[in-house]
Amino acid sequence: MGGDEREHRRLAMTLAAVLFLGTFQLGEGELKGDYSKLSGIIIPGFASTQLRAWSILDCPYSPLDFNPLDLVWLDTTKLLSAVNCWLKCMLLDPYNQTDHPECKSRPDSGLSAITELDPGYITGPLSSVWKEWVKWCIEFGIEANAIIAAPYDWRLSPSMLEERDLYFYKLKQTFETALKLRGGPSIVFAHSLGNNVFRYFLEWLKLEIAPKQYIQWLDDHIYAFFAVGAPLLGSTETVKGMLSGNTFGLPVSEGTARLMFNSFGSSLWMMPFSKYCRADAMYLKHFSGGIRKGPNAYQCEQKEFQSNYSGFSTNIINIEIPSTRGIDAYPSVSEFSQTNYSSMECGLPTQLSFSAREISDGTFFKAIEDYDSDSKRTLHQLKQSYHDDPVLNPLTPWDRPPIKNVFCIYGVDSRTEVGYYFAPSGKPYPDNWIITDVIYEIEGSLVSRTKTALTVTIICGKRGKAVAARSTCSCRSGNQVEGNPGPASGDETVPYHSLSWCKNWLGPRVNITRAPQSEHDGSDVQVELNVEHHNEDVVPNMTRSPRVKYITYYEDSESIPGRRTAVWELDKGGNIVRSPALMRELWLQIWHDIHADSPSKFVTKAKRGPLRDDDCYWDYGKARCAWPEYCEYRYVFGDVHLGQSCRLRNSSADALLHYV
Ligand SMILES: *[C@@H]1O[C@H](CO)[C@@H](O)[C@H](O)[C@H]1NC(C)=O
Ligand SMILES: *[C@@H]1O[C@H](CO)[C@@H](O)[C@H](O)[C@H]1NC(C)=O
Ligand SMILES: *[C@@H]1O[C@H](CO)[C@@H](O)[C@H](O)[C@H]1NC(C)=O
Ligand SMILES: *[C@@H]1O[C@H](CO)[C@@H](O)[C@H](O)[C@H]1NC(C)=O
Ligand SMILES: *[C@@H]1O[C@H](CO)[C@@H](O)[C@H](O)[C@H]1NC(C)=O
Ligand SMILES: *[C@@H]1O[C@H](CO)[C@@H](O)[C@H](O)[C@H]1NC(C)=O
Repeated sequence: MGGDEREHRRLAMTLAAVLFLGTFQLGEGELKGDYSKLSGIIIPGFASTQLRAWSILDCPYSPLDFNPLDLVWLDTTKLLSAVNCWLKCMLLDPYNQTDHPECKSRPDSGLSAITELDPGYITGPLSSVWKEWVKWCIEFGIEANAIIAAPYDWRLSPSMLEERDLYFYKLKQTFETALKLRGGPSIVFAHSLGNNVFRYFLEWLKLEIAPKQYIQWLDDHIYAFFAVGAPLLGSTETVKGMLSGNTFGLPVSEGTARLMFNSFGSSLWMMPFSKYCRADAMYLKHFSGGIRKGPNAYQCEQKEFQSNYSGFSTNIINIEIPSTRGIDAYPSVSEFSQTNYSSMECGLPTQLSFSAREISDGTFFKAIEDYDSDSKRTLHQLKQSYHDDPVLNPLTPWDRPPIKNVFCIYGVDSRTEVGYYFAPSGKPYPDNWIITDVIYEIEGSLVSRTKTALTVTIICGKRGKAVAARSTCSCRSGNQVEGNPGPASGDETVPYHSLSWCKNWLGPRVNITRAPQSEHDGSDVQVELNVEHHNEDVVPNMTRSPRVKYITYYEDSESIPGRRTAVWELDKGGNIVRSPALMRELWLQIWHDIHADSPSKFVTKAKRGPLRDDDCYWDYGKARCAWPEYCEYRYVFGDVHLGQSCRLRNSSADALLHYV
């Protein structure tokens, strides 16, 4: 192990020399890199920033109190031993986003704020998402001040982030400081909600600096934007969180999770919406002194009404509403002329279905107003913090940001929830809805969780009002259901339809390459050049061998002069931020870019060899180290098994030269 460490140190020093002195002598040629000037700015996703207490809170019946700077998000010990106390420090006022009177929390700062989320306890999406990436950067000798985290209070709505914490102002300063300190622009790495935050920042910036200097500012400060797992048209799971609670694997009840989620102003930020509807230009307010239309000033293309599900693969919400009163009881849903109301009686619930547009424009929440005490709050929040936001209505599709290099990266073909069936449970808020069925997309088809044999019994009380409902289902998975499944499925959290929206950022012609994720010699690489596409999904005519995970790259360096756009789809990524293949690809692309004399616009996909000693392994079939061109057997005292003694022949710097 000592040898390993020495090896790493040697490697780090070689690379530091390459990267930070900018030049590197190599036999005949000299390579000039501008790497020393770049900084990386990480904008983490939802629930991925630590929050610390900024109060003193006595927790009765528990030995654990909250003191200033104590971890709140995420301290599972305190969560388990004093959940009500912990909630006081987590919850915000659902109307005005203020702290609980007895406890407040604030986001932590620095890299550790995003890399050390309760290590060990949770293995789900919440645990230390960025740690691996930071580790990778350190392994390649990146300096400490070159990686900057931009943690934020992910409970707040976009405007509140600025109002309370001056977050966007500070983010602008972060870019400016990075430029001053290192002399070059930054690379933005955003994950999940972090992409929405970055989008809002770009719009905010437009109002903050003179219009003529906007593009110049971006060119000077941002070299590339890596959008990882961006919910570009929202995430279906948000709906589950809002109506029945999504615990993210935390040891809390669904009701508590719902209560918490709905107290956050950010909960609506990832709501699904239609790509066909846009809001009025927000400049209206800026330039003409406050003349604005109401919250429903969405303008939808005709396609919105021709497509049945706002472009998604199915209706996102199907909900049973107890039909206890006459049609007058549903004033808010009377616009649903198709619904046949004459069949409503107590005991026969009405099922209503809602598309993404009807969820994001508030129609759905108006429809359930009488049955859900939280609806009014949601409608208020939706109008105030989203539709009427003075900078941007985030519930509208995002066009390609005007940044030099845009890389949109996501996982595909995992089982992803795309639609829900809800029914009243008869319990009070927050447990008043139960999920009776879930529709998943999986590799190009839609399946439901349950067999349709679902029985809902509504119990009628006095005055013919439904007071309770019981439902039973015989759960069996794998039933095909109707809808418009996409060519692939999403990344487990966000549907493919939403992730792949950024394919619209590509120009009319794209080069597509499909290569294995693992190290490969190029024999299984498929290429299609200049594939035409026009505002629709572009799907390559390529094959997949079973059991091989691929990356499919869609690249365009032509449609906007001097700018590049790429989309990378990773098969079944799991948590792709931690995927070694993704880290390697990010690294190689950046490495390629800093060598400006490189003839190709994007890093070659022709082969992928080992880059680090860790990538060398023993090939038992051939009884030697795999990749003999790159790796050799070199025992170092302390090695325990054969694979450990397989080491790079040359330094990583030499290995990287193949990718210039
Ligand atoms: C926010 O709302 C709470 C309760 O709804 C109220 O007590 C508090 O004064 C409000 N704060 C602000 C700043 O409006
Ligand atoms: C929408 O639904 C109608 C009726 O179910 C069907 O005839 C039509 O083809 C669907 N449209 C699309 C674009 O799927
Ligand atoms: C509404 O439902 C009733 C009873 O199910 C049926 O008789 C009637 O024809 C339906 N009306 C329409 C417009 O579909
Ligand atoms: C897809 O590729 C196959 C074999 O390369 C070819 O025969 C077929 O015509 C292609 N299909 C389309 C739609 O281009
Ligand atoms: C596709 O690749 C070719 C060859 O490398 C290049 O000339 C062309 O500009 C690329 N097309 C696009 C859209 O980037
Ligand atoms: C390793 O370095 C030697 C000498 O510097 C060079 O000839 C060889 O091509 C390098 N091998 C690889 C895989 O880079």
